[in-house]
Formats: sequence, structure tokens, C-alpha cells
Amino acid sequence: MKGLFSIVLFLFGGIITAIYIGFGFQTNSQTAVVDEELVGLHEKYTLKFSHVVARNTPKGLAAAYFAELVKEKTNGWVEVQIFPNGVLYSAQEEFEALKRGDVNMIAPAFSEVTLHDEKWIAFDLPFLFDNEQMVEQAFNGRVGELLLKSIETKGYKGLAFWDNGFKQLTNNNRPVVNPEDIKGLSFRVMPSEALFKTYRTLGARARTFPFNEVYNVLQDGIVDGQENTLSNIYSKGFYKQQKYMTVSNHNYLGYVILVDPIFWDTIPEIYQESIQEAIDEVTVWLREHAKELNEDMFLRISSTGITEIHELSEEEKKQWLKELKPIYDEYEPIIGDELMKEIRKVQGY
Ligand code: LMR
Repeated sequence: MKGLFSIVLFLFGGIITAIYIGFGFQTNSQTAVVDEELVGLHEKYTLKFSHVVARNTPKGLAAAYFAELVKEKTNGWVEVQIFPNGVLYSAQEEFEALKRGDVNMIAPAFSEVTLHDEKWIAFDLPFLFDNEQMVEQAFNGRVGELLLKSIETKGYKGLAFWDNGFKQLTNNNRPVVNPEDIKGLSFRVMPSEALFKTYRTLGARARTFPFNEVYNVLQDGIVDGQENTLSNIYSKGFYKQQKYMTVSNHNYLGYVILVDPIFWDTIPEIYQESIQEAIDEVTVWLREHAKELNEDMFLRISSTGITEIHELSEEEKKQWLKELKPIYDEYEPIIGDELMKEIRKVQGY
């Protein structure tokens, strides 16, 4: 009898232990749910995304698509609010606003980034890449990696490179075919030192104005010309104020998506992953469509007949590059051997 009692007691003890362990697991998993709440999974996040261009441009369309994808991937828990056309800030003001937390995501052109990290001057070297395939190779390879690593040391986290296209030259005075044709003319450029030097080397003048002011400075004749992608030239109506356009493809205008790393770390990892996934999908989409969009804008500009267009031949481009050799001599040491070596590889050297 005593033996039977011991067996029952043993079995009962086992059942109690099993139930306890079971409850223990349940409690743990309940704790896990509570933890998720603590890390903010059931809080709504709003990301303010500021950019300076029109909605119907590569960057404008990409930003809108990105907002849609983030909403879808996070079931609406992360909302991206887009502020296009520089309605909040100019390109340089955006950097300060990002640091203050007044906006959470920006997509500046590389020439704007040069004021914060001079290695980005690399993309301002004239006639650096001949085509979009080379640009893509640079973005996706070591060149891109080194640039993102470098901007991180300046306190910005880069999430992706977005495409626009090659820059073209417009002016209101005369057709520009050879480098000497721009002597004495003035151009609006983005605020990169290498761009100022480029024009000065050719005997022209360069001044900087925020993107939103370009139409007016062209209209008022404060400068004779400007350089930009076809999508920007069309969407902002610059061509209406310019009698001549040279399809020069002299620099590639790309963007880097930047966030403040301190803000980024406040977003739960699961949402960070969804945001990065959305950015990556948009990047691929843009790579396929940016060129088409710019080509479409070219047809629109040429069909108006307002602007006389000259496309530089390969021979003419060589002439320009020869004249602009001092820009390479001056900036290669600043860009540094490591990055220049990787750029050369992309160029096929
Ligand atoms: C500019 O000329 O300022 C633009 O190219 C800006 C942009 O973001 O495209």
C-alpha cells in the first residue's frame, strides 16, 4: 500500500512538473509578445521623405512607389510621407533637417553629398562613365561599397543608390559643340567644388542656386545656362528658357538614400527589413525605367522645337575630356587611390 502511494505520488509529481513546465513555456511566449510590444511592433511609424524634384521624374516616381511598397510590406504599420519639389527644404537644408529629425529620409544628388564627404567628388569627374551598365557596375560593386562606408564615417547611413541619368548642357546664347564654345558663358551648377572648377577650366563661370530657383535664374538671365538630366530639364520647364541643348552625357546624376543612423536604430528590426526590401525592389525598378523616362523626356523636349539640340560625337567628347584633364589631376588625390583603382576597373583599365 505504501509502495502504491509512492507510485501515485511520483506520477502526480511528474504531471504537476509537466504542467508547470508547460505553463512556463506559455508564460515565456506571453513574455515574448509583451516584449514585441515593448520594442514598438504595435506602434505606427511615420517616415518623412523629402526630395527636391518633380513627381514625374525617376526620383519622384521611385519615392512614391517606395511609400506604396512599405505600406504593403508592413501592413500599414510604417507610413512614408513624401514631400517632393523641395516644398520643405532645399537639397542642402535636407541634410540639416535629417540630423534634427525633422525629416527621416532624403535622396540627394551625389554632387550635393560632396559638401559632406569629398570622396563623392568621384562622380563629378567629367566623362567618368560611358554608359548605364558601367554606372550600375559601380553602384553594385566595390565603388558603391566604398562610398557608403565613407559617408557612414560622416554620420549618415546610405540605404541604396537610385538612378536618374546623364547630365546635359543647356544655354541661351549659342550652340555648344566644342569646349571653347562655352568660354565666357555662365552656368548654374549644384554646389560641388569640382563642378565650379570644371567650368572655370573651360573659361566659363559657374554659380550655384537651389534647384527650385533654377527656372527663375534662367528666365531672368542671371546665368546663361545649366546642366541637368533630361527628366529635370523637361519636368521643371528649363528648356522653355534655353535655346540650345548639348547632349553631352558629361556626368552621371545619381542619388543616395540617406537616413540618420540614430533614428534608424529606433525602428524595430522587422520594419527595417521591410523598408530595406522595399528600397531594393524600387532600386531594381528604377534601374529598368530611369533611362526610358529620360528618353521619353528627350522626345518631349525635341518635339516642342523650342530648343536646338546637338548630340556630342565620340570624337567631340574626347576633345572635352582632353581639356578637362586638370580636373582629374586635382581631385584624384582627394578621392584616394583605393576608390580610384576600383573606378578604373569599372572603366576597363
Ligand atoms: C539639381 O540640379 O539640383 C538636381 O539635379 C537635383 C536633383 O535632385 O535631381
